[in-house]
Amino acid sequence: MVSYDHENPMDQAYQLRQLMEGPRPASPVNQRAHIIAVASGKGGVGKTQVAVNLSIALAARNYRILLLDLDMGLANADLVLGLESTASWSDLFDGRRELDDNIISGPGGLDFVPGASGVARMAGLSEFERHQLLAAVRRLESRYDLIVLDCGAGISPNVLTFAAAADTILVVTTPEPTAITDAYAAIKAFVWEQNNRGGVGQAAGIGLIVNMAESRREGRETFERLAGVAARFLHLPVNDYGYILRDEHVPAAVRQRHPVILHYPRCSACTCLMATAARLARELGQSQEPESLFYRVMNMFL
Ligand SMILES: Nc1ncnc2c1ncn2[C@@H]1O[C@H](COP(=O)(O)OP(=O)(O)OP(=O)(O)O)[C@@H](O)[C@H]1O
Ligand SMILES: [Mg+2]
Repeated sequence: MVSYDHENPMDQAYQLRQLMEGPRPASPVNQRAHIIAVASGKGGVGKTQVAVNLSIALAARNYRILLLDLDMGLANADLVLGLESTASWSDLFDGRRELDDNIISGPGGLDFVPGASGVARMAGLSEFERHQLLAAVRRLESRYDLIVLDCGAGISPNVLTFAAAADTILVVTTPEPTAITDAYAAIKAFVWEQNNRGGVGQAAGIGLIVNMAESRREGRETFERLAGVAARFLHLPVNDYGYILRDEHVPAAVRQRHPVILHYPRCSACTCLMATAARLARELGQSQEPESLFYRVMNMFL
């Protein structure tokens, strides 16, 4: 039996590594990071849980991961990570600091850039500031295998721009009809945004993850319903990134200010998260387009 020292993140990360299966890259996989924007229609569906725990699961496989809390104005990924810190975003926009200066070491070996909470100005960044932010992320592309953007809920200009810069937009929904309807509306907006940014380069792939499913079957049916509607009305393939079971270990870990994947790695939600991480690891193992999509999106601003 494995015993966990829940007070020691390093030990928890070690234990997680023992649980994770699959190849671990000994050297950088790609020339540049794959960018995943984690988004949703409805709020509170589990974006931050997905972004944080998938990032840790992949860091445990030795991928170089940068997680950015881009839920501008209402950031809270630091709390889920047990870190509680904010970044000096105004210094970044004033040109006095690089994004690099805001990176802190997170549990499990990931790098993390905290967001800003309660700062209304951050929720309404100007087009120029969004451009500055993405340019700063771009300067870090070569240092990571994966950059995960924890976006806010809905389709604000911030979210639409960050999603348009990603290689994969991972939309999180729950099986609730309201969440499904909002997820579909968000997907529609992401596609519209991509088409109206000049259609340069390859569009981001849209993936769906069904969180808080009561059963595998409910997760499956929710995916099929949404993917079916997107195929029929948007002619859009939606990729299946799996489901995560509703599991009380998730809120329990939040209350204890520990990432659930380190604190309760064997719980049912974490088993599902690890399956999604394994799928992402397979994708990361594949070679990237030689030209950075991120770079091409940047060109749209210039
Ligand atoms: N699989 C799950 N089982 C049970 N509870 C969950 C699960 N996933 C998330 N939760 C709970 O749902 C709440 C919202 O999760 P989270 O903060 O990740 O959502 P969010 O989409 O990032 O929210 P926001 O839109 O406010 O950014 C949290 O309190 C978390 O504990
Ligand atoms: Mg969130």
